[in-house]
Amino acid sequence: MEKHRILLVCGSLRAGSTNEAALLAVRDGASSRTLPELFTGMGALPHFNPDDDTEPLHPAVATLRSAIGAAGAVLICTPEYAGGLPGSFKNLLDWTVGGGEMYGRPVAWINVASPAAPTGGADAHDSLRKVLGYAGAEIVETACARVPVTRPDLDADGTVRSPELRARLAGVLEALADRLDG
Ligand code: FNR
Repeated sequence: MEKHRILLVCGSLRAGSTNEAALLAVRDGASSRTLPELFTGMGALPHFNPDDDTEPLHPAVATLRSAIGAAGAVLICTPEYAGGLPGSFKNLLDWTVGGGEMYGRPVAWINVASPAAPTGGADAHDSLRKVLGYAGAEIVETACARVPVTRPDLDADGTVRSPELRARLAGVLEALADRLDG
């Protein structure tokens, strides 16, 4: 059987990001039925401007769109900044609207916000749900999960330390793959 390609998109550009560490644990724990790939081009995207949403597209936008287009599903992990989505990540999402690659595509997220976070990242994830609705994505509710990953959960090399936590994170990918199988 062909493997499910799943694009992993991190909403943080920070070196040592807990969101990226969570996605790397997802990738490393993937079973043989999935082919997860971490998208690394968010920082190269230009500021979204509808005037620039024409051919020839900026190469970073073309890369984003083809990566989404080639994926069977997208898995997002983003922090909350100032009660909403990080600007760089909202910028990425805005670039997906015009291309239509998100339309009908199964998407899930992992909310790794610390239990100590004021709202547990709820505002960012409410916003994410709304934006994905505008982009026409199919939100896979059975795969969306809250799995706190904090800086003390990471080893010095930035990887998620606990095998139990890594297994929980990997389980999200399995839930997303279940939707693709089903
Ligand atoms: C934050 N953080 C944060 N957390 C939250 O729950 N609600 C919020 O409104 C904010 N606002 C906010 C603004 C700014 C400028 C920063 C730098 C941070 C905390 C933030 O979500 C947390 O540190 C995440 O762990 C950052 O994710 P990465 O970079 O570790 O992936």
